[in-house]
Amino acid sequence: MLDGKKLYVKSYGCQMNVYDSERMEENLQSFGCTKVDKHEDSDIIILNTCHIRHNPTANVYSELGRIKIYKDSQLKKSKRVIVIVAGCVAQAEGEQILKQAPVVDIVVGTESYHNLPDLVQKALRSSNEKFINLEFETIQKFDMLNKPRKKQSYSSFVSIQEGCDKFCTFCVVPYTRGAEFSRKTNDIINEIKSLADSGVVEITLLGQNVNAYHGKDVNNNDFTLAKLCEEIAKIDAIKRIRYTTSHPINMTGDLIKAHASIEKLMPYLHLPIQSGSNNILKSMNRKHDRDFYLRIIESLRKSRQDMAFSSDFIVGFPGETDRDFEDTLDLVKQVGYSQCYSFKYSQRPGTPADTMKDQILEEIKDTRLSILQKLLQEQFDSFNNSTLNKTLDVLFESKGKRKEYNQIIGKTPYLQAVAVDISSNTNPEDYYGKILKTTITEIKKNSLLGKIQD
Ligand code: SAH
Ligand code: SF4
Ligand code: F3S
Repeated sequence: MLDGKKLYVKSYGCQMNVYDSERMEENLQSFGCTKVDKHEDSDIIILNTCHIRHNPTANVYSELGRIKIYKDSQLKKSKRVIVIVAGCVAQAEGEQILKQAPVVDIVVGTESYHNLPDLVQKALRSSNEKFINLEFETIQKFDMLNKPRKKQSYSSFVSIQEGCDKFCTFCVVPYTRGAEFSRKTNDIINEIKSLADSGVVEITLLGQNVNAYHGKDVNNNDFTLAKLCEEIAKIDAIKRIRYTTSHPINMTGDLIKAHASIEKLMPYLHLPIQSGSNNILKSMNRKHDRDFYLRIIESLRKSRQDMAFSSDFIVGFPGETDRDFEDTLDLVKQVGYSQCYSFKYSQRPGTPADTMKDQILEEIKDTRLSILQKLLQEQFDSFNNSTLNKTLDVLFESKGKRKEYNQIIGKTPYLQAVAVDISSNTNPEDYYGKILKTTITEIKKNSLLGKIQD
């Protein structure tokens, strides 16, 4: 047992890591650990890391430097602190981490973290032994996850699919998360029911290729993502359903139709394309061209006219010409996104694009990124402006940061943050977990102000 041990978990990277971090915490808590918010208060530290680009990976090593100072200071007081590197850097770099950062005691991969309680107990019993577990044990990992869950907020992530078989030439995920694997439908439904019973109202289904989900129910019937969403929609207490991240080639007809028939499925979709140039899409191995993507967007808009879209873009992929970049700008203009993420291409060891000729100069990447981001910012502002004076459903979840106001914060169907001032004698908690018709009264830089309709 790990009774009374204080646990600090820091999550980097995508929502799957956020979910995994929560599940690691829950698992270690069931062995007696308690959660703390700073590494300076902890006995066990987990960094759940991201390898997607150079910078998040480098950040992990700087954090380990800070943690070493803390660990050494505690050792002087005869207190042993266990330092764990989990997640995608762990999976990708393995033993190398122990060489580069001897402060680390345990390296645990993305598909083996159900072994953590055992590994931590072993590490605590040893004087300075190192432990590594990088097995791809996705089935055992999901089995560990099959425990009833309690609400941490009104909106909860639920992982339904792991790994990726797509092998885009720039991306480490197929190597850090392994082959595509879908969790059993009934296990997912049970997890969502337990969350719903504890007060959760919004579910975001997660997977690196979430729309490639192909599960089975107890009777061995096939379950697509569309069918899964239908089942979840039957749970009364769940009012909103989202899913992320989707690959365009898995946007099947039934899923597009689901956006028309399932009211609870939010009219907002993150559908990354990465580039608007057919040459670059081919060289990235994205498996579709720009027309295919534009047709999907059109079908989704036909299915539900209030759909909004977001995407990821990479600029400066090897061989990207000015013309290719222009094609990306042109595609962005054609789609009209509500918000997007954009990155400079980052060379990742072991991926095919890393050794491609015609790597793009950093200065050119910088220029292209700033041109693209300016356009995306305009679209973001214009989308927000289009909601002015409109009445939207807002799910209220928390208190505003500005103490001088009695303010609550919620989310629109499009994930925009909305702040509402309530009268000073009302309790903000009365609003939490409720979806209320709210008129947007002012557009700020990164948020909206609104007024709840009576
Ligand atoms: N599964 C998702 C994306 C996962 S990675 C999909 O298929 O779209 C999240 C985002 O990181 C990607 O969409 C991409 O835009 C970015 N990314 C991945 N590898 C990258 C690299 N080597 N350099 C720059 N950005 C990268
Ligand atoms: Fe990476 Fe491509 Fe798989 Fe997305 S689909 S995780 S970008 S390899
Ligand atoms: Fe990063 Fe791994 Fe997610 S590399 S983006 S944490 S799947």
